[in-house]
Amino acid sequence: MPSITNNNPCVVLQKVGSITYEDRPVPELTDPHYVKIAIKQTGLCGSDLHYYETGCCGSFKVEKPMVLGHESSGEIVEVGSAVTSLKVGDRVACEPGIPSRYSQEYKSGNYNLCPHMAFAATPPYDGTLCRYYLLPEDFCVKLPDHVSLEEGALVEPLAVGVHANRLIDVKFGDSIIVFGAGPVGLLCAGVAKAFGCDKVLLVDIIDEKLAFAVEHGLASHTFNSRGQKFDDLMEKVKSIWKDSEHGLPTCGIDATGNQTCTNMCIRALAKKGRFVQVGMGPDNMDNFPIAAVMEKELTVKGSFRYSVNDYNYAVQLLKERKLNVKPLVTHRFKFSEAIEAYEFSKKGQSIKIMISGPE
Ligand SMILES: NC(=O)c1ccc[n+]([C@@H]2O[C@H](COP(=O)([O-])OP(=O)(O)OC[C@H]3O[C@@H](n4cnc5c(N)ncnc54)[C@H](O)[C@@H]3O)[C@@H](O)[C@H]2O)c1
Ligand SMILES: [Zn+2]
Repeated sequence: MPSITNNNPCVVLQKVGSITYEDRPVPELTDPHYVKIAIKQTGLCGSDLHYYETGCCGSFKVEKPMVLGHESSGEIVEVGSAVTSLKVGDRVACEPGIPSRYSQEYKSGNYNLCPHMAFAATPPYDGTLCRYYLLPEDFCVKLPDHVSLEEGALVEPLAVGVHANRLIDVKFGDSIIVFGAGPVGLLCAGVAKAFGCDKVLLVDIIDEKLAFAVEHGLASHTFNSRGQKFDDLMEKVKSIWKDSEHGLPTCGIDATGNQTCTNMCIRALAKKGRFVQVGMGPDNMDNFPIAAVMEKELTVKGSFRYSVNDYNYAVQLLKERKLNVKPLVTHRFKFSEAIEAYEFSKKGQSIKIMISGPE
């Protein structure tokens, strides 16, 4: 039975370039629907690194010290009086953003777009790199016994992939082209395969990342686009798709945020194709391929984090072993080495860095 210690060490971004440990009060359960989680594993994310290096990410700015981390799993140590679905000792994946119960977005089933969202490690809200974290019970997804806590922490980026694939309704009979072989692109590709795509073409500019994807079954084909033109890409696409019903990919995802990738991805699609933008790029694009969108009757969407059931489906994919996320963890650090972990992540030599603890 997990016990509660009376301290709560946290990894705090004080200001740009400065991370320290702070011992903060153990949070109290005041809402009967909440649970207290002892955090066990936390993945480092590009956004954490952005805050560390620049103090901002997208339109969010760090204006006061903030606990880092939002990709976590842990063990329940206390439950509120109204909690029915979880008990002390359960291992859970933690969905790190709590919307307002009173927003139109929440009521319409799009809670990820709630303007009052309190999201971990997004200013001004503290993150999960601490000993104890509170969440409503329905923002915790119980992990099956055979799914590890590391996999539980990877549910966060996996849910990003699930959300994107669901937005464009990827299913059996589809095929996809995904740009970006970082953790998000790899998981978007892996989810597309798990959802039934027979052909998953992953595009990046780093051979090692592409080889990794194929080795671990996350993509069926790859293309290194460094120095290549759109025609070069299409030669490859047509050779892969030559015997398929549509001759071209029916679905596309950009997970780079690079506008050339978005442009090429959209133009590579079959008629009636569906595209979703996951990568965060510039506010405006120089060359949006609007003619292709019009002539091919394409659907173009945006994707922001995850929403109703994405966490559940992500855990289900892991439960049923529909994709293997474990190899994504290339480097491991202890909670006491969190600052080293952030420093190491700057080198860009890792796919996913995992921080265990605090013990
Ligand atoms: N929409 C969301 O909710 C959401 C959630 C998480 C992350 N993101 C965004 O998704 C993107 C990917 O996240 P990540 O953590 O995997 O980042 P990452 O930086 O690890 O991966 C990006 C990949 O894109 C590749 N790339 C860059 N420029 C390229 C180009 N011109 N051609 C081909 N490949 C290129 C890089 O080599 C890298 O492998 C980021 O922009 C991130 O901000 C969005
Ligand atoms: Zn993240």
